[in-house]
Amino acid sequence: MKELYKLSNIVQQYNGRTVLELDHFSVSEGAIVGLAGHNGSGKSTLMRMLAFLENPVSGEIYYDGKKVELSGTDLRREVTMLTQEPYLLKRSVGRNVAYGLELRGESCIESKVRDSLTQVGLEPDLFMSRQWFELSGGEAQRVALAARLAIMPKVLLLDEPTASLDRESTLLIHEAAVNARKENGTTLVIVSHDHHWLEEVSDTIFRFAGGRLDY
Ligand SMILES: Nc1ncnc2c1ncn2[C@@H]1O[C@H](COP(=O)(O)OP(=O)(O)OP(=O)(O)O)[C@@H](O)[C@H]1O
Ligand SMILES: [Mg+2]
Repeated sequence: MKELYKLSNIVQQYNGRTVLELDHFSVSEGAIVGLAGHNGSGKSTLMRMLAFLENPVSGEIYYDGKKVELSGTDLRREVTMLTQEPYLLKRSVGRNVAYGLELRGESCIESKVRDSLTQVGLEPDLFMSRQWFELSGGEAQRVALAARLAIMPKVLLLDEPTASLDRESTLLIHEAAVNARKENGTTLVIVSHDHHWLEEVSDTIFRFAGGRLDY
């Protein structure tokens, strides 16, 4: 399989303290990669780099064979991240999910929005016109995932997406994420304390300890 991400000699520091040190880390295209490790072991730090949100203090990040320069990268159009906190725009569910499609100038937006909501178990007729504050935590997180699935990302980064959710929302989010790989070949990188799920779906699991890979 083609190597989608290749990171070499990565060091990340905050306030002069090293929190991540990776000689080599790679992700194959279309893979499901799990990241495990205790609190503070560097998982979210790595995820922010994979999302092109943060530069390491040293080291190189290659994506799709090209060296990534963070400033001005348009790669954020194809790589998207869902974190524990659902981030929704202050507008209706339908407008939230449509937003990324509109930015990309896509056609057939309404039917794509409906499809995405259905994928996360939200009945479009019931939810399209709901406002962002008229949702439970689990519904809000599912809308946030639907917004990301709608743009058919090449990479979906999931950083503890179900950490504070009920069982039903958790299962729906798990199912929708795995389905994105199956249907569209979306590459998934997943941080989850749900070990059973991570073991079940991941092709590879990397374990972190103190900012390093624990072999
Ligand atoms: N913006 C920041 N400023 C300073 N220190 C930070 C910052 N972000 C993370 N850290 C520190 O970097 C280390 C790694 O944090 P990171 O969030 O990557 O861990 P994690 O593995 O995701 O942990 P958790 O399982 O709790 O989410 C921790 O010691 C953390 O306190
Ligand atoms: Mg984290």
